[in-house]
Amino acid sequence: MLDRLETIRKEALDAINKAKDSSREAIEALRVRFTGRKGELTNILKSIGSLPPDQRPKVGQLANRYKNEIETAIKEALEKFDQKNSEETCIAGLDPTLPGRRLPYGRLHPVTQVMDEICAIFSRMGFSVAQGPEVELDFYNFEALNIPPDHPARDMQDTFYIDDKVLLRTHTSPIQIRTMEKLEPPLRIIAPGKVYRCDSDVTHTPMFHQVEGLMVDTRVSFADLKGILTHFIHQIFSDRTGVRFRPSFFPFTEPSAEVDIQCVICGGSGCRVCSHTGWLEVLGAGLVNPAVFRHVGYDTERFSGFAFGLGIERITMLKYGIDDLRLFFDNDLRFLTQF
Ligand code: FA5
Repeated sequence: MLDRLETIRKEALDAINKAKDSSREAIEALRVRFTGRKGELTNILKSIGSLPPDQRPKVGQLANRYKNEIETAIKEALEKFDQKNSEETCIAGLDPTLPGRRLPYGRLHPVTQVMDEICAIFSRMGFSVAQGPEVELDFYNFEALNIPPDHPARDMQDTFYIDDKVLLRTHTSPIQIRTMEKLEPPLRIIAPGKVYRCDSDVTHTPMFHQVEGLMVDTRVSFADLKGILTHFIHQIFSDRTGVRFRPSFFPFTEPSAEVDIQCVICGGSGCRVCSHTGWLEVLGAGLVNPAVFRHVGYDTERFSGFAFGLGIERITMLKYGIDDLRLFFDNDLRFLTQF
């Protein structure tokens, strides 16, 4: 009987060891087989009464010890199985064969897209990109551009001053000066960037973007300016877009012009957007005033040049038929994802 007990113990522990990774049911079946109501060990315990009295205590003691040992082994096997199984379920929750959740694509802001397009058009005409600071000196923003202190032209742009000499640039034109200080003619640059004015309504925001253009060489004429700007407008809108140059005034150009395009909304017949004129102003331009050349030490007898400055938001509004400038800065994804 003692041998039989040893054999049952060994078989039970081996079987539990083998079954521990297979299934809960397999482990439970071993409990039934060895320690269940009709289990092999239980049967031995039940038969103790029929043994010779001198064997009963030893067999009973050993059978109970092995029963406890087997039950403990089954309990541990079940706990380990459950723990492993729940880890596997967790991993299974991340089934790598399922398609992942799509992340929304980011995209470029419409103003950035149009700015890039403008830069691409001018770079095909031989212009390279220049940059300058947004916090600017009064000297570059006004004085070197032939706008001395107290000049009435300062009122054309409501300025955010930081102190007497430092301000947020009101236009990209100071980059003309910074570039001419560094480079000798011939040169062709465009300078995109943010500018700031104390101004806010449906067609004006306190911060907006401009692109400045500057070309300096011997014998640059108004005809060059007209040709390049007309080509640019035809590229950015369409070959059929009408362009007109209207006399205007900027202290840093002489003669100066404002350039209008035929209203892209009504095609020139007149609507609310173009105030029923059929035309929309998109940029300011002119031949560089010799007074500006003198500030940077260029020979005014030898060199001439043209400059222009255009509002990128305005071009973007016309290109996409947007009627409120402030939409660009609300950061509403329902608007921005349309571009
Ligand atoms: C200027 O800023 C001149 N520096 C342009 C220039 C450069 C002229 C070189 C000659 C030579 P103006 O203030 O008109 O000019 O602005 C140019 C363009 O910026 C306008 O045609 C318009 O498209 C845009 N703009 C002006 N103010 C605002 C504003 N508050 N919000 C949005 N766009 C504006």
